[in-house]
Amino acid sequence: MILDHVAIVVRDLEAAIDRYVNVLGFSIAYRETLQDQGVEAVGLQAGEAIVELLRPLRADSPIARFRGGAESKLHHTAYRVEDLRAELARLRSRGTRLIDEEPRAGAHGNFIAFLHPKSTGGVLIELCQRPTSSAQ
Ligand code: CO
Repeated sequence: MILDHVAIVVRDLEAAIDRYVNVLGFSIAYRETLQDQGVEAVGLQAGEAIVELLRPLRADSPIARFRGGAESKLHHTAYRVEDLRAELARLRSRGTRLIDEEPRAGAHGNFIAFLHPKSTGGVLIELCQRPTSSAQ
């Protein structure tokens, strides 16, 4: 598996962009609003990988609750696979609990699926497949 991105939930997206771009020196790879997931996502290029800043669009969304009172909080790590359906089937057969049994649409055109933290030592892990190969 290849590290695709790490996602950080932030309270103040513009302040976070200022910190990551103007202080740390990252460049913005994409910025998009995912209405169905209730987030705005800003991808920062970090070599071959992405650091993705997530801003909840609604105060009562799951990621807003996840952040709690923190200024920002690491939300998940995401690993890229070639065949997401096959990887989910393989992990399921090994007893891994899945949050998403089927691939679904994620940020930046990816197909994504989350593994259950109970099966990953408490870290939320996303598997993703790039849109060039169809997962549907
Ligand atoms: Co992600």
